[in-house]
Amino acid sequence: MIFDKENYVVEKVTVAGETIEVRAFRNRLYVDKPVNAAYQQLNIFAPECFFHGEDINGYSLENAPVFMPNSVGGYKPGELCEPGENAWGPQGVPNTIFRALQHGYVVVAPAIRGRSQQDDAGNYTGKAPACIVDYKAAVRYVRYFAAEIPGDAEKIITNGTSAGGALSSLMGATGNHPDYEPYLEAIGAAKARDDVFMASCYCPITNLENADAAYEWQFAGVNEYRRMHMRMDEGGRPAFVPKDGGMSDLQIRVSEELAKLFPPYVNGLQLRDEEGRILSLDENGEGSFKEYMKRIVMDSARKALAVGADLSGKDWLVWENGSIADMDWFGYAKDITRMKTAPAFDALAMDSPENDLFGGEDINLRHFTRYSLEHSQCHGSCAEEAVIKLLNPMPFIRDKQAVKAPHYRIRHGECDRDTSLAISVMLTLMLQEQGVEVDYHSPWNVPHSGGYDLEELFAWIDEACK
Ligand code: DHB
Repeated sequence: MIFDKENYVVEKVTVAGETIEVRAFRNRLYVDKPVNAAYQQLNIFAPECFFHGEDINGYSLENAPVFMPNSVGGYKPGELCEPGENAWGPQGVPNTIFRALQHGYVVVAPAIRGRSQQDDAGNYTGKAPACIVDYKAAVRYVRYFAAEIPGDAEKIITNGTSAGGALSSLMGATGNHPDYEPYLEAIGAAKARDDVFMASCYCPITNLENADAAYEWQFAGVNEYRRMHMRMDEGGRPAFVPKDGGMSDLQIRVSEELAKLFPPYVNGLQLRDEEGRILSLDENGEGSFKEYMKRIVMDSARKALAVGADLSGKDWLVWENGSIADMDWFGYAKDITRMKTAPAFDALAMDSPENDLFGGEDINLRHFTRYSLEHSQCHGSCAEEAVIKLLNPMPFIRDKQAVKAPHYRIRHGECDRDTSLAISVMLTLMLQEQGVEVDYHSPWNVPHSGGYDLEELFAWIDEACK
């Protein structure tokens, strides 16, 4: 394993009239035994002024945080990224990497294997747990060469959105855990630690084996779905067009059955609120956990109201003397509508991204829940329990062998329907129970997306790093 610090280029990058000068160390293999070399390499960027004794926002070559965003979406391969223009969201504006460099961070951007990849022999090379194993290997590389790589390798911040947010949440929860060791060894990862300092997670699509039940606990009874379909616009950029429909009788029955599985799951977690009160649900899905969830959504509405948002169309909010006093949870679910039919993740026909994720070396699609295995419409098999666990931060949070990131920032939009809001809330509560500082918020009227509040994200990083 090598890192040649003399092999770099200095470049000016200009986006929308703003220019940064960076030193780029590109295409560094972060493993000794790559399975797919193109997706097991990383790019390192640092502000060029650091090498001339200057600093930015108090950050220098030695003390700059190392921001490590992943570009994984949909559990597909994460591409090797660059500072430049935003590929998603608003056009013509600088991307997160550009902004992070401008702010004075070192950026390490790894490519990561994904579920769709095969080698020449036709073997699948990016099924679970490849994505999280690669992310860990990239962090280990940075630690291994900490003396040569710019920035402070004890201040690593992972960041991602959706499946990428899930990977960031795993990085924060599973540091150095021995369960990942055989996989890291197999690809020749550096012998170094992989725990991180901060995990930034936008709408994490995680806890997949419980996400179907959580989704139906939130959406059962909402039988219409509104899906956004991705198309390319004339400029070759992703654009979303709506596709609507209703669930079949079978899907409605599945929804009702799955919803019943959620209370036993959440009750088994024994989560507590800030006052130490147990958060639970009765068999009808009612109880203190639901009240807690309502508080999250009402806090979102109250914050929006305070900055002048118009909430007049939200007839599920209950007002008293001009302030929000309560809400109708089902009215909220109907308003935002479901995006996915039941089961939302472990599809009975095995046609979801997650069925693809949990395939194996010689099998493309598998189930990962007992319910969908038992109700499979295609005689599907099930992924190994041990592999399913490696993709879920929850079982590691209370495990003393897993080093936790001391700081988490989780954002999950109030009208995100890709997964239940309960998923990020359960994650947050369990982390807080273990003494992790979690900055959680569900921003009002924000759908499934990330990186929309970089100034606040950077302020959170600076607060902990300075
Ligand atoms: C993503 C979105 C999903 O709805 C999902 O099931 C998995 C991944 C994503 O955007 O990464």
